[in-house]
Amino acid sequence: MEAMNDLISMALTLHRIFIGLVLLIAILSYFFVSSDKDFRGFSNRVESVALQYYFMLAALFFTGLVVFGATGLEVTWQVVMMVSALGWIIFTSAKLHQVFKRTRERDIASQKLFKTYAKRKYITDILIILAVTAVMYAVSL
Ligand code: HEM
Repeated sequence: MEAMNDLISMALTLHRIFIGLVLLIAILSYFFVSSDKDFRGFSNRVESVALQYYFMLAALFFTGLVVFGATGLEVTWQVVMMVSALGWIIFTSAKLHQVFKRTRERDIASQKLFKTYAKRKYITDILIILAVTAVMYAVSL
């Protein structure tokens, strides 16, 4: 039983750390897509940061899954909310990647379109993460 509690508390600690990291990368990504660099430098940055973002999202999912499993696979509305939030973030990341693939070095309009989409997406991600975190702590008080 004690080992189980250790597992839950460790997974929750990691879950919290990865929430922070996801938030940090979302904020960084927002500033990266807003900066006016030449296209090559810009696209390298966007791609490497997107990769880190996927890793952190996967880690957030995995630590959540461990807590979920160790606390008895109970599907509460909190769990549904967190999984939907993460699902939405991953879905819009995949969409954004499609828009990114359509950008061309000499096509400024395609880059502008990507930037608009990307800014909107990262702002939404940041708000979703903050809202879900606020709700989680509000209900556990
Ligand atoms: C946007 C993504 C997510 C955010 C912002 C988030 C946020 C949080 C927060 C703030 C807590 C409370 C931590 C604490 O007690 O200190 C929590 C707990 C938890 N999370 Fe997440 N989470 C996310 C994704 C997930 C996913 C994908 C799963 C499931 C696979 C999950 C499963 C859990 C479980 C089971 C708990 C414990 C529930 C409880 O104590 O009532 N989370 N999460």
